[in-house]
Amino acid sequence: MLIFTDTIAVQACLSDWRATGERIALVPTMGNLHAGHLALVERAKQLADRVVATIFVNPMQFDRRHDLDAYPRTLEDDSAKLQAAGTDLLFAPEVSTIYPEPLETTTQVRVPGVSERLEGTSRAGHFTGVATVVCKLFNMVQADVAVFGEKDYQQLLVIRKMVADLNIPVKIGSVATMRESDGLAMSSRNGYLTPAERAIAPELYKVLQFMQAELSVNADKIIKIQEKGLYMLRNAGFEPDYLEVCEPDSLLPAKPEDSSLVILAAAWLGKARLIDNLSINLKPGA
Ligand code: PAJ
Repeated sequence: MLIFTDTIAVQACLSDWRATGERIALVPTMGNLHAGHLALVERAKQLADRVVATIFVNPMQFDRRHDLDAYPRTLEDDSAKLQAAGTDLLFAPEVSTIYPEPLETTTQVRVPGVSERLEGTSRAGHFTGVATVVCKLFNMVQADVAVFGEKDYQQLLVIRKMVADLNIPVKIGSVATMRESDGLAMSSRNGYLTPAERAIAPELYKVLQFMQAELSVNADKIIKIQEKGLYMLRNAGFEPDYLEVCEPDSLLPAKPEDSSLVILAAAWLGKARLIDNLSINLKPGA
């Protein structure tokens, strides 16, 4: 696996691959890799001839300085995992490579609508930071396809909208959320949990599953089911930021007549902010 920190070297290598007609897939990450990230690499291998992964802890998407500083940086381990997974090239730039200018004077990509609710209200400016860095990575790598996780459901929608609105010539692939055996969605932030909190953490997914089961028999009781879910989360020891049943494309609050729904949640457990989601089709086969 080739490892580069500067753009010129990456682009030279990519143009060689492109010249021989090879398709390129991009997997953007912030590192501290787990099996969820590696599932994206697997998918990328199916979709293209060459897989480029990026590791960049993007300062523009962090609204809390402490969160940015504390974010785990484990480049050596990550490189070994990416290599073992069959990645062809790792691009791990410095902040000054991605942002040669101060963040305040750098052009930003704001995606209206879908980025404004849920994570958008809890984390001001977060999705502008995500859209900006992903747009820059798309321009630097010019991949045929890029792969993202459904774990970050709203992020996936924001990126799809940005690509459509800005006519970026890249296809977007997605991968289902990888979970621990007890249902907890894999996340770099799970490492912040104490053993006692780790034992509680799978309750988040259990609450989503409970709501899914309730909605499938009482689709008209969305508000009541949300309240019950919030109660269950608080009772388990979480401090929820949001727990909402939404329409899957707009992320607006779901209506009783909707047959496709997605439940999205973000909740604090000690120092960790966990997010998860679960899609529901109330008319299977329809
Ligand atoms: P990061 O949190 O490192 O996640 C990188 C990619 O891995 C994202 O597409 C995310 O959805 C996916 N992912 C994380 N956990 C997963 C899981 N349990 N199962 C499947 N996929 C999972 O998301 C980001 O970084 C950043 O916002 C980024 C897109 C790189 C922009 O900075």
